[in-house]
Amino acid sequence: ASDDGVPHRAPVVTIMGHVDHGKTSLLDYIRKTKVAAKEAGGITQHVGAFEAKTSKGKIVFIDTPGHEAFTTIRARGANVADIAIIVIAADDSLMPQTREAIAHAQAAKVPMIVAINKVDLPQADPERVKTDLTTVNLVPEEYGGDIIVVPLSAKTGEGVEDLLEYISLTAELEDLRADPKAEFSGVIIESRVDKQAGVLATVMVQQGTLRVGDFLVVGEKYGKIKAMTNSNGDRIKEAGPSTPVQILGFSEAPTSGEKVSSAKNEHAARELVASRVGERRDAEAARQNRKLSLEEMMGSLETVREVNLILRADTQGSLEALQGILARKEKDDVKINVMLAGIGAPTEGDVLLASTAGATILCFSVTPSGSVTKIADQKGIDLKSYRIIYELIDEVDRLIKGNVE
Ligand code: GTP
Ligand code: MG
Ligand code: NA
Repeated sequence: ASDDGVPHRAPVVTIMGHVDHGKTSLLDYIRKTKVAAKEAGGITQHVGAFEAKTSKGKIVFIDTPGHEAFTTIRARGANVADIAIIVIAADDSLMPQTREAIAHAQAAKVPMIVAINKVDLPQADPERVKTDLTTVNLVPEEYGGDIIVVPLSAKTGEGVEDLLEYISLTAELEDLRADPKAEFSGVIIESRVDKQAGVLATVMVQQGTLRVGDFLVVGEKYGKIKAMTNSNGDRIKEAGPSTPVQILGFSEAPTSGEKVSSAKNEHAARELVASRVGERRDAEAARQNRKLSLEEMMGSLETVREVNLILRADTQGSLEALQGILARKEKDDVKINVMLAGIGAPTEGDVLLASTAGATILCFSVTPSGSVTKIADQKGIDLKSYRIIYELIDEVDRLIKGNVE
């Protein structure tokens, strides 16, 4: 590749695969951390972005959840990646979310490396995994194909150095470069509302440099960077390409996966937001007109049973995952109305809305305050909290069947 003076940048590597195949454990081994052991329900429910200093230099890793609920997060993880690592447990081989992860990586046109994990287990069968891979048209190099397959163990560390070597070789081939002096651009990896700190957004810097005090625009929101921390939690003043940073300064949580750009000053940021709002309103008005005429044509619709919900979750990603699941659960005779979907703990306003609308409030990974719980009790509103997504889904199934006590 011709060297046009733009410096190299660290590769962004997304780890994907079926639930419990060992993605987080692999990152724990590489980063010398113990994240997997602390997760609620033993499953990853967010996307995490980490800078790791390895024997091969800096590598940015994105950990994704393997549970089936988190399709959107996996798709986004693949989209920001330079390289995808597909983790497959040697005792389990290809499973539904393995296939899904492979499909996302292929759709995003990202080079893949297959890590066959858990080779320390007595029942491990790496050869079977390699054969199974050929059934989805991924032919390992040793079978004459072009897919790099690395057997390893996140538990003992065997093979992990080989994986880092292949990541580094693949990154070299990709010739990844970005200019720290160019205009800033990045993407929202995740955002959440912290009780004390407020809105925290994880941004991946893709080009240019972010500095404390910069104005950022994401969709129809803007903010000024008040503080920035790296993935080790250290306060930093600026961040260059291939750096995931957590930013304090948005007043509302920006949507994951959205592009982030910078504006010269507050005035320019406001103007950009105003023009985007205008465009959206025009499009909505046009859509509304079409919808009304369609309903007139079809005559009055039959009445169906309605399940009214208010959703509250800790992050945009979880909220999207829940909405995705709910959309798929709708049937001809059951309509699910999400009256409100918000990030952060439920408010008194939510309870009022629930009482007007006859809605159930479902919370995921957020804890309602004592006062809100009390008001909900007084008004006879169902307010339920879950830490594990499939328990919340079970509750939705009960609501759909209508047999909630
Ligand atoms: P999700 O994020 O929920 O999809 O799971 P994950 O793919 O991140 O898997 P996780 O790291 O949570 O590991 C799942 C289980 O497998 C845990 O009990 C780990 O201790 C275990 N595990 C992970 N890697 C290995 C390995 O190399 N060998 C053995 N024996 N166990 C492993
Ligand atoms: Mg995990
Ligand atoms: Na897990």
